[in-house]
Amino acid sequence: MKVMVVGGGGREHAIIKKLKENPQVEDIYALPGNGGIAADAFCVGVGATDLDGIVEFVKGHPVDFAVVAPDDPLAMGCVDRLNELGIKCFGPVKDAAIIEASKVFAKDLMKKYGIPTAKYETFTDMDKALAYLEDAPIPTVVKADGLALGKGVIIAETRDQAREAVRSMMEEKKFGDSGSQIVIEEFLTGPEVSVLSFTDGKTIVPMVSSQDHKRALDGDQGLNTGGMGTVAPNPYYTPEVADRCMKEIFLPTMEAMNAEGRTFKGCLYFGLMITEDGPKVIEYNCRFGDPETQVVLPLLESDLFTIMKAVEEQKLAETEVKFADRHACCVVVASGGYPVSYEKGFPMEIGPMADNVDVFVAGAKLEDGKLLTSGGRVLGVTAVADTLEEAIEDAYEGVSKVRFEKSFCRHDIGQRALAAQK
Ligand code: AMP
Ligand code: GLY
Repeated sequence: MKVMVVGGGGREHAIIKKLKENPQVEDIYALPGNGGIAADAFCVGVGATDLDGIVEFVKGHPVDFAVVAPDDPLAMGCVDRLNELGIKCFGPVKDAAIIEASKVFAKDLMKKYGIPTAKYETFTDMDKALAYLEDAPIPTVVKADGLALGKGVIIAETRDQAREAVRSMMEEKKFGDSGSQIVIEEFLTGPEVSVLSFTDGKTIVPMVSSQDHKRALDGDQGLNTGGMGTVAPNPYYTPEVADRCMKEIFLPTMEAMNAEGRTFKGCLYFGLMITEDGPKVIEYNCRFGDPETQVVLPLLESDLFTIMKAVEEQKLAETEVKFADRHACCVVVASGGYPVSYEKGFPMEIGPMADNVDVFVAGAKLEDGKLLTSGGRVLGVTAVADTLEEAIEDAYEGVSKVRFEKSFCRHDIGQRALAAQK
């Protein structure tokens, strides 16, 4: 089988390495992939959002199955375009990807079907939004409707900050068209849990839970990033919480999408907050999380390619999805200055890693056979072990063997989970 993976980050590297475990998978094409992924797949110089380029590529190459991993091509209808050509895909069609692409859609869906989430109002008119803020509870959360590279969420600690957030989105268009509609919602508190799930629209199977670390610096200081590290499982996701999530959130969401004529097939990601009133949805993503995937897939004992095909054929109920009863920790190594501005093009050295450690490359290019940094998040080092303590220790041991100029990482990935476990 020839498999195409659309995307080119650490998440895609983790997906590709797992797909390769199936002997049926002969060749993998990554569009565009990256310099690190090139060790595991044929990288093709077509960008993940270049849908015409992707279509051209599959017309010239015998691709049997495609995995569309990032949010943008999914929201743009990449799966629809490939399906039209008869290519089977893992990933939702455009009508279903809207669950991530529009926060207003997601919030309205939850309200209509009674799925627990923060209370909210939506606005298309700036003056109305500003008037609403006059007596909204503070802190409050202001969100741009559309995809904004994970940056379209502002937690306003004061009324002035909230007004400023509204203006930046609706007047200054800081997030482009994403800000023409906004959501203002209740500020929730509690530990956050990420749960990725496989769903074919008939069955939903949660994967092992995980915890992201979104802030750039130790102690959850600094700016929000795409994610600086993850651990799995997440100790806050107890069996009782998991039960409630299945009954109150996962199944109702799958059924709501069916009822709306937007059957979701692929990986549905639940960003949850465990509040005093129980688990609530903070966000949905229509795809694997990054860097959650880098801890979740290394714990998957069943065959990923078999599961992905079963999701496409709506035969998930008959397919084994089993996770190891172990722990994983992923530490992201980034370029100094990320997430604001950073230099690229530094040569990288990645020392030999222990057997339980894997490296997933996110931002690197190959030049004359040398690996050079090419992104803010450069790579993730994941360790799998019997305990969380060991997984953390082994991941950092791996990180010590990664060298490039101005590199940095957080030093406290997993510490909160460790404390919660005790
Ligand atoms: P999102 O892009 O929706 O995941 O939001 C980014 C981050 O903002 C989340 O991971 C939360 O930490 C935080 N956040 C979003 N919505 C809320 C909320 N209603 N209350 C508290 N924190 C929130
Ligand atoms: N790590 C969060 C996300 O993938 O959206």
